[in-house]
Amino acid sequence: MADFTKQIEQRAQTINMNAGPSPLPQDALLTAAASLLSFQGSPGMGIAEISHRSKAFADVFNEANADLRSLLEIPDNYKVLWMQGGGLTQFAATVLNLNAWYRTKHQLSAADQVEGWYAVTGSWSKKAADEATRLGVKARKVVDGKKLGGGKFRSIPPGREWDLPQLEENQRKPAFVYYCDNETVDGVEFGGQGSDTEFPFSQIDPEVPIVCDMSSNFLSRPVDVSKYGIIYAGAQKNLGPAGVTIVIVREDLLVNVDEAVQYGSAPIPSMLSYKVMADDNSLFNTPPTFAIYVCSLVLRSLLESPPLPLAASAAPLSPLSDFADKKSALLYTAIDESAGFYAGTADKGVRSRMNVTFRINGGDEDLEKDFIKQASDLGIKGVNGHRSVGGLRASIYNAVSLEGVQRLADLMRTFREKHA
Ligand SMILES: Cc1ncc(COP(=O)(O)O)c(C=O)c1O
Repeated sequence: MADFTKQIEQRAQTINMNAGPSPLPQDALLTAAASLLSFQGSPGMGIAEISHRSKAFADVFNEANADLRSLLEIPDNYKVLWMQGGGLTQFAATVLNLNAWYRTKHQLSAADQVEGWYAVTGSWSKKAADEATRLGVKARKVVDGKKLGGGKFRSIPPGREWDLPQLEENQRKPAFVYYCDNETVDGVEFGGQGSDTEFPFSQIDPEVPIVCDMSSNFLSRPVDVSKYGIIYAGAQKNLGPAGVTIVIVREDLLVNVDEAVQYGSAPIPSMLSYKVMADDNSLFNTPPTFAIYVCSLVLRSLLESPPLPLAASAAPLSPLSDFADKKSALLYTAIDESAGFYAGTADKGVRSRMNVTFRINGGDEDLEKDFIKQASDLGIKGVNGHRSVGGLRASIYNAVSLEGVQRLADLMRTFREKHA
């Protein structure tokens, strides 16, 4: 019989700051572990061993949907889809579905070119724009963060400085405007630490759907879903295990992708069609049932035991936002008071509250390696920067405790005192 005492002790000594997959609430994991053997809705059979069409799974799935809807206050005219293939698949699916929707709406022909406008503020939105180009949709960069940052993604300009074309009446609008709310690699977030740099909604034609990749700050703050056409998020940061991706899509954007072929749309795999998924309540094929189950447990724990008290009439996710502000402030303060020994890689005002990225002593790789080792010796794991940019990155998602972040801030101080 498994006895989890040792594993729980090891977890207590570990502060997991991996960027994704990342830590999940321990209670949810313990319940999930027991449910693998025998699930209360199907005694004698584990949650991963029962049909996705069974009542026991339907109960889990319905509860997860209801909890997600209430946490994000999702309006009734939006569908929630549970898809597979992660964020990268959504780079394609958003383009394919909205290309089909736009072509159908405007009854285009194959020769007509469709555009999507991309705010490229970091590595992930850049990849998304590249994927649109691959798929034959013209990706116009309305923000080129790398250019603005002298070769590094570090800033988001205010909306008035975006390169938003002023269209003549006879010019076609873009099919969508796309952005990534939190750039996990570069540590750049709309509405980041201590700022109100929000996406410039008012400057976008209300007829043009806004698409947002919220993979790495999903469920970390309230969101006005009604401002969006599509929001998507891979689960593996704040919601659950890798393998499931949430897509929240406004109903009027759902289109029959087969009918869209006559308007010049490429045929789309059924598994990537939002309408197919919505019509089948995300059960078009076998969904990742275990991953969804863990998500359901995490959602329940966010609702029932938020990390800070929920004030009356506040949005259900506001305690998580306050929590993220508090935790990230500990690290940004350690950076800002270091007289340049630590330097944040993102500009103030767009600093991510989920992924705190910084360099040591102007990018001294030996010192950075030493810091990562010392952090690891203290049980703080995963603070190395993404392999494409180097440096350090502390990912402090919902399940990372305030005490854990404090421990890293303390190390930053003692390390600086020794090496500055
Ligand atoms: C913001 C963001 N978008 C997209 C992705 C890609 O997600 P996936 O690896 O699930 O395809 C990631 C991965 O970390 C991410 O952080």
